Order: sequence, then structure tokens, then C-alpha cells
Amino acid sequence: MKVISVVNTKGGTGKSTIAVNIAAVLAEKGKKVMLFDMDEKQKSSMDFCRIRAGDKTLPKIMAGTLLPELLVEDIRDYDNFDYVVIDAGAGDNGQARAAVLCSEHGMLLIPVQPSTFDSWAAEDTLSMLRDCQRRFIGSFDKNYILMSRQPTNRNMNILKDADESFRSKCEKYHVRMMESVIHERTAFRESVGEGMGVSEYAKKKPSAKKAAADMENLVEEILGILEEE
Ligand SMILES: Nc1ncnc2c1ncn2[C@@H]1O[C@H](COP(=O)(O)OP(=O)(O)OP(=O)(O)O)[C@@H](O)[C@H]1O
Ligand SMILES: [Mg+2]
Repeated sequence: MKVISVVNTKGGTGKSTIAVNIAAVLAEKGKKVMLFDMDEKQKSSMDFCRIRAGDKTLPKIMAGTLLPELLVEDIRDYDNFDYVVIDAGAGDNGQARAAVLCSEHGMLLIPVQPSTFDSWAAEDTLSMLRDCQRRFIGSFDKNYILMSRQPTNRNMNILKDADESFRSKCEKYHVRMMESVIHERTAFRESVGEGMGVSEYAKKKPSAKKAAADMENLVEEILGILEEE
């Protein structure tokens, strides 16, 4: 079993969108997937799975939630799953920290938006990660920043500035940048309401193909990282 924890203390960076889509691509690949929704306010991932369960043609994703301490204690009980995806809510709280601690069994993904506010806010998540690394024994060494909701207009100066800013944070906190990027695309919003990942949605809506390609590239990169020793 490998864990993929999706964490950012800042709200709205695309954590739930990315978590449910990773789960959907893995399920499509025939993998047994458990999705933990650790957001105590909005249960976005749980709602997604509830809608999804209504369409029996879609490969199953198990969804649930646990108290943070139970998640950390019991994560090994989910060894019968191929992958456990954890969607942490916003804020530096027990849920987010539990997701960071569980990433010891896989990797941590920090979705960020290419903006100055998000770059400043990333310090908060990265400091939380550093704090967890200092307090707990474990190999929290697969930590990655992922560009999320990136505008498709590549000529924007903000993209270059954000990239530089996040790269310098990566050096400071010894985390890496994912090569894959998730763009801002309508299909990510539309597909959720149908309980589908964008790759599933693209089968009936060809306009979702670019979003599907973003997601498939991301999952390929994740699988490569998780296979590294
Ligand atoms: N790549 C994307 N393209 C288009 N819309 C997106 C994308 N990612 C997220 N969104 C939209 O942005 C909003 C916030 O996304 P999401 O709920 O996934 O973020 P979050 O980090 O989980 O938020 P929270 O911190 O509140 O849990 C949602 O309306 C979602 O549909
Ligand atoms: Mg969310």
C-alpha cells in the first residue's frame, strides 16, 4: 500500500480536485483505492464518492474519514488497498498534520496556485512539514510542490515569477517540484458533479481531453516517484 497525501494549509488550491482525480485514474487502472477525506468542514471527496457510487459503470473508490489520531495509528490496516489517497482540508490542524505523517508511507503532494499570495502562504505548509519532520521519526522525504490551477496562457509573467519563487522555497525546505502541472480547465469543475475523474469524463466529453492528459501525466509521475526506493 502506498499513501498519497494532498496537503496545503491554504484553502482552494485544488486539493480535493486533485485527490479525487488521482483516485479516479488509479481506480481506472484497476487499482484498489481508499480515499480519506480529512476536511472537517466540507466533505468534498466524500460527496464526490457518494455521487460516483450511484454510477455502477465507474470503477469503485472506497471513501471514508477518521479522527486524525486514528488515521495515523491505523493507516497500516489499509494495507489491503493498493493506494490510500488523503485529502486534507485547509488550515494547520490535526487533520493536515495526520496527512503529512501518513505520507511517510508514500508521498506528500502540495498543490499550489501560481500567485504571489500562494507563494507566501506556502511557507506555512512547508513550516508545518518541517515541524513534523523534526518531531517525528520517519522518512518524510518524498515531498513535492505541484502547480495547480495554472492558467493556460503561458506568456504571463506571473507564471515565471511564481515558478522562481516556488523553486527557491523548494531549496530552502528540501522539497521538490513536480514536473507535471494541472491547468485551470472547466472540465475539472464539470466532471466532479458527475462523480467522475476528468479522464473518465473525457470519454463522453472530448473537450475534457486536455484536462485528462494533465491528470494522466500527473499520475504517471506519481507512480514513478512511489516506485523509487
Ligand atoms: N484545475 C482546476 N481547473 C478548474 N477549476 C478548478 C481546478 N482545481 C480546482 N478547481 C476549482 O476551484 C475550487 C477549489 O478547488 P478544491 O475544492 O479542489 O480546492 P481545495 O484546496 O480542496 O479547497 P479547500 O481548501 O476549501 O478544501 C473548486 O470550485 C474547484 O472546482
Ligand atoms: Mg478540499
